[in-house]
Amino acid sequence: MRPLIVIGNWKMNGSLASNADWVKTVCRGMEQGMPSGRQYAFCAPFPYLSQCGQLIRDCSLAFLTLGAQDVSAHTAGAYTGEVAASMLKEMACKFVIVGHSERRQLHQETDELVAEKALQALDCGMTPVICVGESADERNSGREVEVVRGQIAKQVAVLQDRLADCLIAYEPIWAIGTGQVASAQLAQDMHRAIRLQLAEFDADVASHVGILYGGSVKPDNAVELFAMPDIDGGLIGGASLNPQDFLAICQA
Ligand code: 13P
Repeated sequence: MRPLIVIGNWKMNGSLASNADWVKTVCRGMEQGMPSGRQYAFCAPFPYLSQCGQLIRDCSLAFLTLGAQDVSAHTAGAYTGEVAASMLKEMACKFVIVGHSERRQLHQETDELVAEKALQALDCGMTPVICVGESADERNSGREVEVVRGQIAKQVAVLQDRLADCLIAYEPIWAIGTGQVASAQLAQDMHRAIRLQLAEFDADVASHVGILYGGSVKPDNAVELFAMPDIDGGLIGGASLNPQDFLAICQA
């Protein structure tokens, strides 16, 4: 059985004051009781990882952990502005998002670079959350499965059976921040296609890997999405900024 995992991606949002409020509100809410066997995390901007790590240690709920939004493909050295996986590990990160479409589009990240980043996270004992997904144009021209298969194939080629220790996030670009959520069935169909592709490589890996959905997940659509057999949770952007909405999605 794959556990349901809900991860918030704060993107470039937050402040010392609002982070403290957020973590305290979410902790208090979660202390009231959560569905068992699930995992929850949130990915804060780099400068706030230390603060957020301390805040969740204070709240000490084993199922609420921390993640980062990116990681360097390099181990250490002269890479101004980059952050190494070993540093994220020291900040108590459990998850690292790699290959988010915003990084692919705004920072020209390639599938090869994304796989290198995933390897760095794995080597430091963290779980990479590898993002894939098609653009509106690619879907409108009927190439969505081909595009996502291409992205997954590059990860399989580099990561091989280490993929069993990764999460995949299907985030159709047209659904990110637009309010235009994929229907539960559309998302399920792509998740199924991804799992079948992984099974072509290794059936064990395919059955282990959690595949999260991301793109305009809100409290009112999370239940239907998470009920799908190949949707193992969500990667939540905008709605994760509001602690009450994040809690409601975690409870979905
Ligand atoms: P939204 O939930 O704001 O659409 O963002 C999704 C996302 O990009 C999560 O990584």
